[in-house]
Amino acid sequence: MRFAGSHVLSVGQFERGDVEAVFAVADRMEPYANRHRITRVLEGAILGSMFFEPSTRTRVSFGSAFNLLGGEVRETTGIENSAIAKGESLYDTARVLSGYSDVVAMRHPSEGSVAEFAAASRVPVINGGDGSNEHPTQALLDLYTIRSELSSQQRGIDGLRIALVGDLRFGRTVHSLCKLLCLFERVSITLVSPAELRMPEPIVEALRESGHEVLESDAMEEGIAHVDIVYSTRLQEERFASPKEAALYRGRFRLNQQVYTRHCDPNTVIMHPLPRDSREPARELDDDLNDNPNLAIFRQTDNGVLVRMALFAMILDVADQVDEHSRDVRWYTGGRSR
Ligand code: NCD
Repeated sequence: MRFAGSHVLSVGQFERGDVEAVFAVADRMEPYANRHRITRVLEGAILGSMFFEPSTRTRVSFGSAFNLLGGEVRETTGIENSAIAKGESLYDTARVLSGYSDVVAMRHPSEGSVAEFAAASRVPVINGGDGSNEHPTQALLDLYTIRSELSSQQRGIDGLRIALVGDLRFGRTVHSLCKLLCLFERVSITLVSPAELRMPEPIVEALRESGHEVLESDAMEEGIAHVDIVYSTRLQEERFASPKEAALYRGRFRLNQQVYTRHCDPNTVIMHPLPRDSREPARELDDDLNDNPNLAIFRQTDNGVLVRMALFAMILDVADQVDEHSRDVRWYTGGRSR
């Protein structure tokens, strides 16, 4: 794919080589994300950050990534604070806001909304999550994390064994991750969910058509045995017809240290797109795992900055100029190790 000037709306746009190209640029962003050096390569550029649904890490890491490249961020958050609440169409909002920005990162509660916005935008648009459809940058950072976690065991993504656990019906991060995994070889995937919250059938079929081994189960203990990665997800309560319906599934799958010790292989890496729901009835990923060295959730969030920096640099076509516009930092940077 040609990155310069392109929207990033779906992982379906990527070939395997494109994913590898993003990862290679992301690797080169480490000194900047770690504050060893700063770069001003995007000095003067503006990111329009438009989040019409709750978000902490996706919104802030898009903004930080842009700042770390030297650019500035203009934010709109919440439909109630934007002209959309006065009846403005996505078309009009896109025409207007793309005039104020060099690139836009956007999240919206409706499936297909970010693509609709992009069709009217005058600048590249990156999908930060559209309803339960897709979350392509999360899938890229998840896969980047899987690659980096497995590299210490001299393993790659081909041959990966992964269990996805929780709300696989509404979870857009797992939808995008599965689609990306179709680009790789010999992946074995266990899909653990209640029957009503199964992974959508077209995605299961795509995995099988790619030659992957897919097992669907509603028993977490079996599903998480003998895998390299357990990827837990939050119940997407906001996508259910009623809170009462969501309550039927809350707390169904809980991974804690005791369950991990009993059922997982010793080096199994634990991932979650976050936020995890730490309230008592939910707790899909217990706080008692915080000292487990295989808990990769905060390495995931750190990696999100690298991957988003890479995407901005490639879309705005400055990936080869980042180092040219750099210097050492002047302030104290101790204690930031990953
Ligand atoms: C996820 C999302 O919003 O899709 N979070 C994220 O972006 N890291 C998952 C979630 O909200 O549960």
